[in-house]
Amino acid sequence: MGAEKRWLFTLFSAATASLFLIFLFSFYAFSSSGSPFPTPIHHGPHHPPSFAYYIYGGRGDRNRIFRLFLAVYHPRNRYLLHLGAEASDDERMALAVQVAAVPAVRSFGNADVAGKPSRLTDMGASNIASTLRAASVLLKVDSGWDWFITLSASDYPLITQDDLAHAFSSVSRDLNFIDHTSDLGWKEEQRIQPIVVDPGLYLARRSKIFYATQTRPTPDAFKVFTGSSWVTLSREFLEYCILGWDNLPRMLLMYFNNVMLAEEGYFHSVICNSPEFMNTTVNSDLRFMIWDNPPKMHPVFLNLSDFIQMAQSGAAFARQFHRDDPVLDLIDEKILNRGQGQVSPGAWCTARASWWNDPCSQWGDINVVRPGPLAKRLEETVSNLVDDMKSQANQCK
Ligand SMILES: *[C@@H]1O[C@H](CO)[C@@H](O)[C@H](O)[C@H]1NC(C)=O
Ligand SMILES: *[C@@H]1O[C@H](CO)[C@@H](O)[C@H](O)[C@H]1NC(C)=O
Repeated sequence: MGAEKRWLFTLFSAATASLFLIFLFSFYAFSSSGSPFPTPIHHGPHHPPSFAYYIYGGRGDRNRIFRLFLAVYHPRNRYLLHLGAEASDDERMALAVQVAAVPAVRSFGNADVAGKPSRLTDMGASNIASTLRAASVLLKVDSGWDWFITLSASDYPLITQDDLAHAFSSVSRDLNFIDHTSDLGWKEEQRIQPIVVDPGLYLARRSKIFYATQTRPTPDAFKVFTGSSWVTLSREFLEYCILGWDNLPRMLLMYFNNVMLAEEGYFHSVICNSPEFMNTTVNSDLRFMIWDNPPKMHPVFLNLSDFIQMAQSGAAFARQFHRDDPVLDLIDEKILNRGQGQVSPGAWCTARASWWNDPCSQWGDINVVRPGPLAKRLEETVSNLVDDMKSQANQCK
């Protein structure tokens, strides 16, 4: 075969292969869902709000993260999943493959797995760096979302995304749901005054935070606030933290670099020391947790015995759960109506539901939400919180 002929042959086979691929792809796309093309997403005050989720975990958390992702999925939202640096690239890749195979994700392309992981040191400031990075990515890739929500692999929702969007559609979109207090108590001496270093910021290997022998006084240039690390923050506030011209978010970032459990104080202190945002704080994390008693340092693992209390709590999410605890199956069945390996259905899903058919393999208008029986409780929680906020008795105090 001459050079020319060989070239022709290559071209021909490449052309055949791509034709075949195009054929295969169209077959795949049309057969797997009734609406292979995404319906347009409408954002703005006259449409339901949408949420940007940052879901993270460590080594071995791939299946938990995927399950949680399915449980909180909605085409109008945006998702960034992060398996920390101690997880392997294989695990990360496998998660990306699982996510990309969800029919709606294939069409709406609204979920990503962070390819370049960060180190998440237990109690270290590297967690704040990862959360800020996630928020930056989500701000950049999607201009439509209203609130940013952080979830860890051991969390689970207690409501559907239709319920959540419905409950949040009646409140101002500049509100920030963040549990906080300046009453530091024992934390002042044990959390704020010690100086810690997070080697996750400069060592390639996994390591623990360590303590300096000296301590430092409680700041007086600003007031320190602490609270729950689980936050629901407005787009506007995150733009201020990440893109803003005011230097306070950066100054506090440098300060919190050496504070133990910085994630329990960073956003809290930034927001409550910023006059233009302090009035937007709603003092709640919207989570259901039961604390160990005493010493009230960690939320206990929830199980079937807690189901009724959780379902009636009016919270949006609960933590923490053991991997594949039976209570998660009960939440799937009774609250989310979610089949195994499928996304939680909402008003957008139009395929007929049966044991072999995923109701969300086809869809109609994704801009409508249909609240379920539990939406009422969440709505009450949110409206009580907002009333409480308006009195300002519980705000940045
Ligand atoms: C926040 O609320 C306080 C107290 O009502 C008020 O004095 C202040 O002007 C408000 N700040 C903004 C930016 O609205
Ligand atoms: C749930 O956990 C509590 C301890 O936290 C335990 O006493 C209870 O028996 C557990 N219930 C079930 C159904 O496993």
